[in-house]
Amino acid sequence: MFQKRTIWLKDAQTIQVIDQRHLPHEIIIRDLQSVAQIVTAIKDMIVRGAPLIGATAGYGVYFACQEAIDQLNPEEYFATCIQNLKHSRPTAVNLFWAIDRMLKALENAKNWEQKIEIALTTAHQIVEDDVEVCRNIGVQGLPIIEALSKAKNGETVQILTHCNAGRLGCIEWGTITSPIYQAHQKGIKVHVWVDETRPRNQGANLTAWELQQAGVPYTVIVDNAGGHIMQHAQVDMVIVGTDRTTRQGDVANKIGTYLKALAAKDNNIPFYVALPSTTLDWTINNGITEIPIEERNPDEVKYVTGWNGKELTNVLITPKESNAKNYGFDVTPARLITAIITERGVCEASEKGLLELFPEKK
Ligand code: MRU
Repeated sequence: MFQKRTIWLKDAQTIQVIDQRHLPHEIIIRDLQSVAQIVTAIKDMIVRGAPLIGATAGYGVYFACQEAIDQLNPEEYFATCIQNLKHSRPTAVNLFWAIDRMLKALENAKNWEQKIEIALTTAHQIVEDDVEVCRNIGVQGLPIIEALSKAKNGETVQILTHCNAGRLGCIEWGTITSPIYQAHQKGIKVHVWVDETRPRNQGANLTAWELQQAGVPYTVIVDNAGGHIMQHAQVDMVIVGTDRTTRQGDVANKIGTYLKALAAKDNNIPFYVALPSTTLDWTINNGITEIPIEERNPDEVKYVTGWNGKELTNVLITPKESNAKNYGFDVTPARLITAIITERGVCEASEKGLLELFPEKK
């Protein structure tokens, strides 16, 4: 059985999510019933992808209210929970945005009972808003694919993507997949080149699975193949998601994105970033110096996880003693980005462009 959404409430004490570490081989649904379990789910990437991390943290704040009420010092306990949630992963700004939205909603609550009620409603609202925002990213991005299809007289539009910025990174629709799904539904011929996305293979495991489910033609390639297929005119556009985008339009996304942007620039191929406004960090300008880049366990580089026909298994691919470094993200400077696709429209990757769509941030 496959659930359409990536997170949902089972009962007042239980959130359920798909354990993304097991996809595409097994669909395992996990119960999350405490702040500690939410923190672990984010840290260990049971859930991942910027919008879904934010939505999960929203329910984390709800559990924090539930747990605080039974403590000797509820305020202190709650503050510790918020700190733990904030330290679960550093790069995706949606995490901090969602926690701040939850805290703001709780400001005027009179007691912990009321806080629990407000927290649940707000967490649900974060989820519902993301669905609508991602649907709208598709509405805004569809004309770009339509125009490419027209320019090719209806021939297949070749799209390259990196990592997973699909439904699994969000709630429904996804960011980069929303325009792709909407184009596919309209009968426009599309084909997606899916970067495998080492070390955790979100492309090979998750994007490929999603596109397979949606019936969208795709081909998985190794991360280093992008430059070659761009040189041979097999890519019409690149589209990626983001974990944090600065006021000036610098984009942090899964490690390797920057190299794809460089290759796209060299080959005159448009490079798009699809984002919900919840991924914009209006407090910073320079992505390279100001965005915190997650470093994960080097074992993710040294081992490859795969399916041996019966179960998931880890295989060592380096000398056992090898040093390894595991940067999770890199920053693509705004100058390499053709345009940013948001729920409000498509804009230049610059402060000016973003402020035209979000004038309230001036
Ligand atoms: O480490 P991950 O899998 O959480 O990284 C995910 C990405 O880099 C996505 O592209 C990004 O979060 C956007 S998801 C709509």
